[in-house]
This record gives sequence, C-alpha cells and structure tokens, in this order.
Amino acid sequence: MRPIVIAANWKMNTTPADAGELAGTIASRTQAPGVTRVICPPFVCLAAVRDAVAGRGVEVGAQDVHHELAGAYTGEVSVPMLAGLATWVILGHSERRAYAGETDELIGRKLDRAVAGGLRPILCVGEVLAEREAGREVEVVGAQLRGALDGRDPQALAAAGLVIAYEPVWAIGTGRNARGADAAAMATAIRTSLAALGWESAAAEVPVLYGGSVTSTNIEEFLAEPGVDGALVGGASLKPDEIAGICARAALTAAARGLAS
Ligand code: 13P
Repeated sequence: MRPIVIAANWKMNTTPADAGELAGTIASRTQAPGVTRVICPPFVCLAAVRDAVAGRGVEVGAQDVHHELAGAYTGEVSVPMLAGLATWVILGHSERRAYAGETDELIGRKLDRAVAGGLRPILCVGEVLAEREAGREVEVVGAQLRGALDGRDPQALAAAGLVIAYEPVWAIGTGRNARGADAAAMATAIRTSLAALGWESAAAEVPVLYGGSVTSTNIEEFLAEPGVDGALVGGASLKPDEIAGICARAALTAAARGLAS
C-alpha cells in the first residue's frame, strides 16, 4: 500500500538561527497518524531542523545533491556529506532544471548516488505553461521520466522508496494550482510511463505527489483523488497554520485508505 507523504520544500528560505524553531512548531502542529511528514530546508539549516524534530516523527530531506561523491566541485554538497543530516532528497526540481541547467541525464546520475547512499529520492517532473497549452504535458513528463529512469532497476528504486512529484511549472509559486482531476490524470500518465519503462509491478507501488500552489484550502481536491498520494508544498510549508491544515486533511486520507495505525 502506498504511503501518504506531505513534504515541505522550504526552498531558499530560513536561516540556521530560525529554522529549528519553525521546524519544531511544525512538528508539534502537524501530527497526523499514517502521514509521512518530511521537511526539506536549505543545506545550512539541516542540522538545526534535524535537532528540532528528533524523535517527533518528522523526517528531514535535502533539496538537491551532487552526482559525484567528492572532488573539485566548488559550492556543491555530496551524498556522504548528508549522512546523519537527511534521509530524503528532492531531485530534479523545476527550479534546478531552470536556474542550474539540470538535465534528465544528470538527474538520473544524482538518483543513482542518492539511492546508493540510502537517501529516499523525490523525483520532480512537470511541464511548463506553453507545453500544457499545446497539450504536450503527458509527452513532456514521459520524456523526463524516461531520461532520468531508463535503464535503472525499478525494483531497486521502488525498494529505495522512490517518490515522484508531479509539479506543473505554471502552478509553482503562482497561486494558480492545477485541478485535482488534472493531477490525477497526470498521476495515471506517470504510472503508465513507468510501466512502459518495464516497471509494471513497481509502477503501482511508487507514490505520486502533486506540487504547485498547494494550500490548506485546496489540498482536499488533490487528496480526494485515489491516484494522488500526497503533496510537495512550497510557500505554504513555511506557514504553520497552512501546513497544519494540509497535514490534518492528509490524516483523513490516511485513515480512509487504511494507513493510520
Ligand atoms: P509552491 O507550493 O510555493 O507553489 O511551490 C511548489 C514547489 O515547488 C514545491 O517543490
């Protein structure tokens, strides 16, 4: 049975001085049986967040990781450096694709490193507005999945806990969220793409999240869809009231799907 995951992507927000307090507040206000909660702060805030949430059922993730283990890569952070700090990692976020020029091929190499190092990856995919307006969203997302996953062992990636986040670029940070039905259609398309890569059984096991202007008000629309297994939340994840509302709704879904223990 697939888990319900609510992952907070804090992006380039918070400092080591304030991240621990925010994470602690979120940990106490988001308790949600059956919901996997993850906070992904900036690298320099990982230790503060780890300490603040220790023993409180919240997991910690990085927002990216380098594809090499060590070497002359100024400013980068590798998988071994995250040991003891993070157990999850976001890969291929559209902001990294757009601002850091990340390609599907590079993201695939990061995925290999993350899995080998025991990090649980959240692989982000999603189309830009022009692609959606041209009706090309399934094709674009399918190509992203193929580019990052082709040739890799689906059972190993599923066993490593791979999560796919469908984040349409036009919905990120814009206040213009996709419709629940669109997210559900894309979750189906993602599983169809995985099956076409030879993933058959693993395709059904991989959680698919929606991301893009998720709030405590619209989360209902996404979690009402049986193919959507949670959310990757940006701006609203920095607001305790918002993320508390999102996790409370997710707890209802977890109970309805028989996940709450
Ligand atoms: P917003 O929730 O701010 O739109 O960001 C979504 C996102 O990019 C999460 O990774």
